[in-house]
Amino acid sequence: GDRIPFYGTHQAGIITPAQNFICFAAFDVTASGAQSLKKLFQAWTAAAAAMAEGMPVGEESGNYNLPPTDTGESAGLSPSRLTITFGAGPSLFDERFGLASKKPPTFKELPAFNGDQLEPEWCGGDIGVQVCADDMQVAFHAVRNLARIARGKAVLRWVQEGFQRTNQADPTGNTPRNLLGFKDGTANPQVTNDKEMNRIVWAQNGDGAPWMAGGSYMAVRRIRMRIEVWDRSSLKDQEDTFGRYRASGAPLGAKNEFDPVDLNAKDERGNAYIPRDSHVALARGDGSVQILRRSYSYSGGMDMKTGQLDAGLLFISYQRDLFKQFVALQQKLAKSDRLNEYILHVGSAAFACFPGAAKGGYIGDTLF
Ligand code: HEM
Repeated sequence: GDRIPFYGTHQAGIITPAQNFICFAAFDVTASGAQSLKKLFQAWTAAAAAMAEGMPVGEESGNYNLPPTDTGESAGLSPSRLTITFGAGPSLFDERFGLASKKPPTFKELPAFNGDQLEPEWCGGDIGVQVCADDMQVAFHAVRNLARIARGKAVLRWVQEGFQRTNQADPTGNTPRNLLGFKDGTANPQVTNDKEMNRIVWAQNGDGAPWMAGGSYMAVRRIRMRIEVWDRSSLKDQEDTFGRYRASGAPLGAKNEFDPVDLNAKDERGNAYIPRDSHVALARGDGSVQILRRSYSYSGGMDMKTGQLDAGLLFISYQRDLFKQFVALQQKLAKSDRLNEYILHVGSAAFACFPGAAKGGYIGDTLF
């Protein structure tokens, strides 16, 4: 169908198969006090639930002397599998809202990683909102109206749009390719396997913050690609960088995309097919640390300073524990990934994404 229910045990947009487009918005809260935060979450919940059904954000009064309630650009459009996923940044758990005691013990700002070139305008946020839809106008409309509803309580901090190939361009739904031309998402865990999702993605009751049970921790990194450098490197170098073939997506030394990754497989001269410092070898390791990736490509147009394309990956991952999973992996990658020659981490944020809201409840209600 074209609609994904807003209410449920878990928030939509996490294990939901990725839609074509994303419009990610980070907000800073300007109001103080738990009460105004609660009101904001309640208003956002009502609007998000309506938009997920393809409805406008409120009833129009018809009063010619007032601005319309909904901004109107999605009128008559299908909900396009719209999902709106809300999360709290570490900065939300401070004295402004009296939430310090609720901060999950394992949740704090991401540490600095080797090679980071973070730009403050792409970092942080009290609240993160991941909006995804199969139509960019529908996604944009959602972010715009959430920002409008927040007026006087929260302001936008940064916004990044992103895309994948559309279902129209690939009706078979094969693994999408990132802007380096490689299939991206092949080795993701199975979202239909509840047991795996409970182990890898969903925070559990005994994890130290009972209000987060059924929620998930999100890492966001705006990773710029050095496209011009990549485009001048040989196909062999490109494949050795990832440890997979570009055309098929198969692990080096194997045949098909979903063939098992064997880091010990050797060619006839006794060399490992998959280089030790390749992205896949490092990200996989012994297989004990897993995350759910849900990234999108982005293009920020042109970098006026260099005349080069400002494009890359809006990396998003979900995990049960931010530090044991994302941080552990990224520390390893930042140190020795071959891919580092071709990428630059310029933005960073982390959000504790609430459990799903039940009908009659609101996002974040377990927090208060
Ligand atoms: C695998 C691309 C950043 C974690 C892959 C694959 C590609 C890829 C092409 C192989 C296909 C697949 O299994 O999906 C990229 C690009 C990145 C990037 C272009 C940056 C621009 C990251 C980051 C992390 C990460 C920051 C986590 C900290 C992983 C993991 C795998 C993977 C866990 C699966 C490894 C396996 O088990 O085989 N990535 N990636 N990637 N990547 Fe990345």
